[in-house]
This record gives sequence, C-alpha cells and structure tokens, in this order.
Amino acid sequence: MFRIAPSILSANFARLGEEVGNVIAAGADWIHFDVMDNHYVPNLTIGPLVCEALRPVTDAVIDVHLMVRPVDRIIPDFAKAGANVITFHPEASDHIDRTLGLIRESGCQAGLVFNPATPLHYMDHVMDKLDIVLLMSVNPGFGGQTFIPEILAKLGQARRKLDDYEARSGRRILLEVDGGVKVDNIAQIARAGADTFVAGSAIFGAGRDGDPHRYDSVIAALRAELAGV
Ligand code: DX5
Ligand code: ZN
Repeated sequence: MFRIAPSILSANFARLGEEVGNVIAAGADWIHFDVMDNHYVPNLTIGPLVCEALRPVTDAVIDVHLMVRPVDRIIPDFAKAGANVITFHPEASDHIDRTLGLIRESGCQAGLVFNPATPLHYMDHVMDKLDIVLLMSVNPGFGGQTFIPEILAKLGQARRKLDDYEARSGRRILLEVDGGVKVDNIAQIARAGADTFVAGSAIFGAGRDGDPHRYDSVIAALRAELAGV
C-alpha cells in the first residue's frame, strides 16, 4: 500500500549500478530518477543513457522525474531507455494534455509534478490521463533540503481530489511526495494522504560511510513508521 522510492540523486554516482542494486535489496520499491537540465532548475544531472545503463541492474520501477524544459522531445528517449513512470512539471510543457498522452503512448505511466507554489488545479481537466500526482515538498533542484510543512495541507487537498476522482471513475491515481522525507516525518506525511515516498539523502546519506547495510536499517525504519499509520 505504501511505496518507498530512493532518489539516486544522493547516491554515489561513481558506483550507481551497485547503489541501485543495494537499495532494492534493502527493501526499496521504486528507483526515483531525477533529471535536471540547468534551465528549468539550476542543476544538471542524468539523462536517458544513464537510465538505459541502469535498466538491466533491476526489475524495480524506474520513476523518472523530469525537471527539464521543453519536455516532449526527451520523453520517447526515456521510454526506450526503460523508464516505467515519467512525471513532468506543468510549467515546463506547452500542452499538458499532449505531454501526458505522449508519455502513455510511449508505454509509461504518466504524472504531473507540483512545485510548492504551483496550484493543484492543473490536474483538474486531465485526471483521465494521470497515473500519478507528485507534490514537491521542497523547491526542485537539489537533494538534502528541508521538508516544507505547508505541503501537509496541500497533500490533504490533493488526497481529496484523487479520492473524489476514484469514487467517480473507479480508477486510483497514486500520490507521491518528494523532498525532505525522513524517518521522523514520513508517518505524518502518510497521514496527510501520500502513498509513495521519495527519499534521497535520508536513505543514501545513511550509507555514506560505505556500508550498504545501513540502507536496510533506514528503509526498515521508514517502513516501521508507515506501519503505524
Ligand atoms: C529535488 C529532487 C528530489 C531530491 C530528494 O529536486 O526532485 O528527488 O533528490 O532528495 P531529499 O530526499 O534529500 O530531499
Ligand atoms: Zn525528484
């Protein structure tokens, strides 16, 4: 019922394949893959080539979070590279409906990402094309930032929209949260309505001393918090 998605942004990039294998072995569900272009956000990360290289390392869902503008050109490349979920920011697309359609036609699940200041109404007229909604709980661009507490109320609003939609349509849209998720706040975030949790520094920071077994203990601690919700 809850999914934990380590963000490889905080992994050791010199050993990325091993890092992915280790977090999945430690009990993570998805791999969150942050794509930044130095235009939409002031940072530059990884693209389809890295996704393609990681694909044979794991059967886990690769959850591609596009922080790029424009978005449409790069979507088929990620689909071919083995992405399973592709999300993008509505401000970065000229035509949200078309971009969602493009992701789904490429065989992936599609989602919209909402920055802390982006209103939720962007989802209202495209619900039928959404598989996932991602609320940013930090401003995008960097790992290791602090969770913005106002997002708890916004998660509640998103939860209600998605529950109303499910009651109407019978279709469930996932609600993911990204930024500053830690052992000490994940339960509160789950109670606010999220079902899928990105955690970068909380998970990979725990293995910084080179001991991948520490991923087991932090993922177990996140799950224990979720079990109490
Ligand atoms: C931020 C990225 C996040 C980030 C999360 O722009 O989208 O996925 O890596 O990192 P933490 O969990 O450290 O906030
Ligand atoms: Zn992300």
